[in-house]
Amino acid sequence: MNATSSSPLRVAIIGAGQVAEKVHAAYYRTRDDLRMVAVCDSSEAQARDFAGRYGIPLACTDVQTLLNEARPDIVSVCSPNRFHYEHVMQALAAGCHVMCEKPPAMTLDEADAMRRAARQAGRVLAYDFHHRFALDARMLREQVQAGVLGEVYVTTAKALRRCGVPGWGVFTNKALSGGGPLIDIGIHMLDAAMYVLGFPAVRRVSAHSFQRIGTHKHSGQFGEWDPAAYSVEDAVFATIEFHHGGILRLDTSFALNIPQQSIMNVEFCGERAGATLFPAQVYQDRDGKLITLCERQSADDNRHMRSMKAFVDHVQGQPVTIADAEQGFIIQQLVSAIYEAAEKGTFVEL
Ligand SMILES: NC(=O)c1ccc[n+]([C@@H]2O[C@H](COP(=O)([O-])OP(=O)(O)OC[C@H]3O[C@@H](n4cnc5c(N)ncnc54)[C@H](O)[C@@H]3O)[C@@H](O)[C@H]2O)c1
Repeated sequence: MNATSSSPLRVAIIGAGQVAEKVHAAYYRTRDDLRMVAVCDSSEAQARDFAGRYGIPLACTDVQTLLNEARPDIVSVCSPNRFHYEHVMQALAAGCHVMCEKPPAMTLDEADAMRRAARQAGRVLAYDFHHRFALDARMLREQVQAGVLGEVYVTTAKALRRCGVPGWGVFTNKALSGGGPLIDIGIHMLDAAMYVLGFPAVRRVSAHSFQRIGTHKHSGQFGEWDPAAYSVEDAVFATIEFHHGGILRLDTSFALNIPQQSIMNVEFCGERAGATLFPAQVYQDRDGKLITLCERQSADDNRHMRSMKAFVDHVQGQPVTIADAEQGFIIQQLVSAIYEAAEKGTFVEL
C-alpha cells in the first residue's frame, strides 16, 4: 500500500458514469483517510468533467496510464459490464484493492480468473452487491442463523419492473452488458436472498426467458430506447434447487405487464416462520392469526453507503464482511446457469 498510517489511501475510479458519481465518489469524499487521485473514462470530456467536480488531479482515457501515473491503493471499477474483467485484472496486477460494480463479469470463466487473481495478489476484490448491506438483510440473516424460521424451503426473489427498460447506458446491449434484467437487477435480489440463506449448495437450475416487450415498445418509466437495437431478454423466471431440498424462485424483468411500477423484494418461507426482506419482518401463524415476531418499520436506505464502507474498512484490516470474490463467483455461476437453462430448455446441474 502506498499510504502510511498518517497519509490517506489513494483512490482511482474507472468509468465516470452515474454509479461512480452517486455511490463511489459520493462515499469516498466523505472520508478524510481517502483521497481521490485519478479518474479514467473512455470519453475524455466525461473524465475531465468528473475530475473537475471532485477536484481530482488526474483525468485520462487509458487505464494503464491511470495505474502507472496515479499509483492508487484502491480502484473502483464502474465501467460497463463488458470491461469489468479487464479493468479488475489490470488493477489487481498493479497491486490495488478493487471495488467492482455488479455483475462481477460477463462469464463464469472471467469471474473465476478474477477471484484467483485476487487470491494470488493478496488483495481485496469486493463486488457492490449493496442490498445485502441493508440492516434488513442483516436482521433476517441473524434470524435464519438463530433458527427462528426453521429450515427455509421456499424463497421467492423478485426484481420486476413494469415498462422500466433503462433509457440510458448500455443495459439493452447484450455485447456490452451480457444480458438484461437478470444480470442487471435480478442479480441484486439473488445475492440478497443467497446472503440471508447463507449460500446453501445448489443442485440444479431451470429457467424460462422472454423477449416480448423490449423489441416492440420504445419508451417507458425510464425514458426511451431503440427497439431495433434491443438485444437482451426482458424477463426471466428461474428456479434454483438446493441440495437440502429447498428452492429459490427468481422472477425478474425490465418490462412485464404487472400493476406495480417496480418490485424489489424477497420472501422466505420456513417451517416455523416466514419473512419479508424490505422492510424486514418475521411472522408466524398462531391459531390462524398472523403474529409479527420482529420487524423494521421501514427499509434501510443507506445500504449503498454501507457497502462502500464495508469495503474500505475491510481494506484497512477491520474484520467486516464484504461481498467477496468467492461469493461473486457463485452468483455469476447462478446467472450463467440460469441463462444456459433458459436457452437450452433443460435443467443445468451445478
Ligand atoms: N450497484 C448498483 O446498484 C449499480 C447501479 C448502477 C450501475 N451499476 C453498474 O455500474 C456499471 C456502470 O453503470 P452506470 O449506470 O454508471 O453506467 P453509465 O453509462 O452511467 O457509466 C459508465 C461509464 O463508463 C464509461 N466507459 C465505457 N467504456 C469504458 C471503458 N472501456 N473504459 C473506461 N470507461 C468506460 C462510459 O463512458 C460511462 O461514462 C455497470 O456495470 C452497472 O451494472 C451498479
